[in-house]
Amino acid sequence: MKLLVLLLSILSLTNSQEYSFPDDFLFGVATASYQVEGAWNESDKGENIWDHITHVNPSFVIDESNGDYACDSFHRIAEDVQILKDIGVNFYRFSLSWSRILPTGHINYVSDVGVEYYNNLIDELIANDITPFVTIFHWDITPFVTIFHWDLPQPLLELGARVDYAAKVFELFGDRVKNWITFNEPYQICEQGYSIGDLAPGYTQQGIGGYLCGHTILLAHAQAYQRYYSEFSEQGGRVGLVVHGVWGEPETDSEEDAAAAEAFVQMFFGWFLHPIYSDDGDYPPIMKEQIDALSAEQNFPRSRFPTFTEAQIESLKGASDFLGLNHYGAYLCRAANENDSTVIPSHWHDSGVYCYLSDEWEASASDWFSVTPWGLRSILNWIKDAYGNPEVIVTENGFTTTTGDVVDCRRVNYYNTYLQYLLEAIYEDECNVTGYTAWSVMDNFEWQFGYTAKFGLYSVDFDDENRTRTPKMSSYVYKNIIETRQIDTTYTPDGFDSCDADAATALTISALLISISVGLHFIAHYF
Ligand code: BGC
Repeated sequence: MKLLVLLLSILSLTNSQEYSFPDDFLFGVATASYQVEGAWNESDKGENIWDHITHVNPSFVIDESNGDYACDSFHRIAEDVQILKDIGVNFYRFSLSWSRILPTGHINYVSDVGVEYYNNLIDELIANDITPFVTIFHWDITPFVTIFHWDLPQPLLELGARVDYAAKVFELFGDRVKNWITFNEPYQICEQGYSIGDLAPGYTQQGIGGYLCGHTILLAHAQAYQRYYSEFSEQGGRVGLVVHGVWGEPETDSEEDAAAAEAFVQMFFGWFLHPIYSDDGDYPPIMKEQIDALSAEQNFPRSRFPTFTEAQIESLKGASDFLGLNHYGAYLCRAANENDSTVIPSHWHDSGVYCYLSDEWEASASDWFSVTPWGLRSILNWIKDAYGNPEVIVTENGFTTTTGDVVDCRRVNYYNTYLQYLLEAIYEDECNVTGYTAWSVMDNFEWQFGYTAKFGLYSVDFDDENRTRTPKMSSYVYKNIIETRQIDTTYTPDGFDSCDADAATALTISALLISISVGLHFIAHYF
């Protein structure tokens, strides 16, 4: 099986050389406000959950760092837009900081300084022919610790405020912004923020918190989508949702493993897509059945999984103009057994699936993904088959290293191979993919991993007050792909040596990293 995958990979690399990205296919790069802006207390900006957690509990982040200063992008609009121009991207995906625009979290007070910053950024992009692609909620949401009310869960309380905020930014920026993303990655916001607790706000209510949060986000998404069309449709833009999709590859050819891998994709990815893209709407049936049954077995008086009303199901159906797919890698999956250590109750336990990173795959510097370019093609095909081929924009894809070295052959290889599989998905499988976004334009604050994990096409000197940015080899390779609309694995930018020699070293290092990576992965997901 694995040999077959390897052979297919090699074949695919040679085949796809002939394909060119379609003329109307768009390329971009992405960042998120807390990860790059800095200026955490500039003017009247309010505190958000990442300001809060990194200040009260610095060890929440591996290197005890924070985004107080980050890449200082708040003060570097012209410089950063010039970088985008140099790479030649068609669009820039960035996110708005809720607490910078609405310091109290509510629309009772709008910050002039916050609005001016985003106006300047949007205007500078447009002046340089770069389309703004705007995420309303990334992960740095405004906390509402002061409005806990009896036992009403916090995420549900935030629903109204979130929709008000979305409507406010449509009003403020929608004359120039035509591409909106409501939420970035509901799974990560919810499971990691409200169940596992390794992202802010750091709640650890496994098997309950993440489901309530996910429910709220889906409803807020639908309401924001409808507000756009009822109040702002004359702006002529479109509104989508971004979901992180990890591909689940069956561990073996057995039917059981195929079913486990399918259950994994349904319960981790379909969770947020089925309500919007399936004909019947609502959550994936497998998710409802399994969580309802386990809740009853575990003596909960009602299911831990929330239910939608009929009206809510209808409001979610079709409520997205494109699907934003964040994709980094695949897992191998099989049915879980009693020896697999999982928290009970938890989403992983509810799924009945056990997934891991194969030690045959090249590791990244992040414990949660390896280099599996074929997985991108697989997940795009899954979307096409499950939901009737909706428009997909790859809104994030990229590779981590531990250092910001400008000779970044492994990142070059990652982009070349993932984009080759993307071309095959477009041409051979007819997947409806219209754009691609590299994560990220520059090294930045990587959440709980601080500055230890670097995804940038540009390196940033975090010891220098000016946060000097330097292009890496991968930025030139990406530029060449955008310009030529083709993948050329032999392309070597001026001033750099060919990557071949480095590739061998990289593979040796990756073999060493693999065992560490696999261990960390299990720790992150199962304890
Ligand atoms: C998030 C980014 C993050 C990236 C790499 C995505 O899931 O949207 O904010 O930096 O992954 O971890």
